[in-house]
Amino acid sequence: MAQLQEHGAIWFRNFESTKDAEGFRGFYEALQLNPCLDPIHTSGLRAMEPRKHAVYEAVNKPSLAGHFVGLHNESTFVKTATYGAFVCFEPASEGGGEFLVADGAKIVNDLDKDVLERIYNNKASGQSNLDLNFLGALPEGFRESTADFLQDLILKVVAPKFDMDLEMIYGADQSNPYRLQAIEHAQSPINKHPVTGQPVWFCNLHNHSRYLRDRRPCTVPEVGMTDVYSGDLSTIPYDDVRHINEVCERNIVSMSMKQGDVVLLDNYRVLHGRNTFKGDRKHAVTWFESCGEPLARGEVKDTPDDFMNTLINKTLV
Ligand SMILES: [Fe+2]
Repeated sequence: MAQLQEHGAIWFRNFESTKDAEGFRGFYEALQLNPCLDPIHTSGLRAMEPRKHAVYEAVNKPSLAGHFVGLHNESTFVKTATYGAFVCFEPASEGGGEFLVADGAKIVNDLDKDVLERIYNNKASGQSNLDLNFLGALPEGFRESTADFLQDLILKVVAPKFDMDLEMIYGADQSNPYRLQAIEHAQSPINKHPVTGQPVWFCNLHNHSRYLRDRRPCTVPEVGMTDVYSGDLSTIPYDDVRHINEVCERNIVSMSMKQGDVVLLDNYRVLHGRNTFKGDRKHAVTWFESCGEPLARGEVKDTPDDFMNTLINKTLV
């Protein structure tokens, strides 16, 4: 744990036992890591791989192979996983799919102080689209009540599933009045590490910014598109977005994981992502809430996840 605290991530290589889910479970149990449930599991959006091992399949879907997953922490406004262990059961058969990490402390350190001050003061709000275009085809009178009903339903049913703190707003994007936008409440992009007190970049902008997604491989349909705004929902200056992107990418460490490799990371310190790939790829992830502290019997908490990712079912790396 001292190594993890110092470096933020540890790459375990050349282990035989971690080539399958059962061995991987033995690995994290030996380290006394206490898993927490993945919220996608709770929502029914994503299957747990071998059910009893709390191992969740990563984003290996062929439809998302050409989609670059940018840097993010596994977190919502109210919940954050403490540690994550990413395991490679099969590297991408035709190349790519490297696992990416970046040190949030270094990113804060490398950012231009004016940009940092601006985004710190303005805060950031994540947003995800749900296009409900069928509303436009409904008879007038019925349309409004249906729209209200859906807005309310999603807020009451979806948000608690992911323990999210958000608002649902129609027409905030003027290109489509039936676009229901889930908007996270404004939060600071900088976090104080809960153990070391280090200031760390803790923000999904690199993954969720519409400006950045439009300029790199992104196969997410418009209905699932995300963006990041300032806390007052104004646009973050593109010069700032480009600078943040450049600093994030400068700090990326790319890992070509082989079968059985595990990357254990401190989710408060280190952001993660994954490169595009070709062919079949089988990586998985388990999230942990603590290490070395036995859980009270029956106390299995939901894990955090990046709600934007979760909401549109395209998620983890
Ligand atoms: Fe993730």
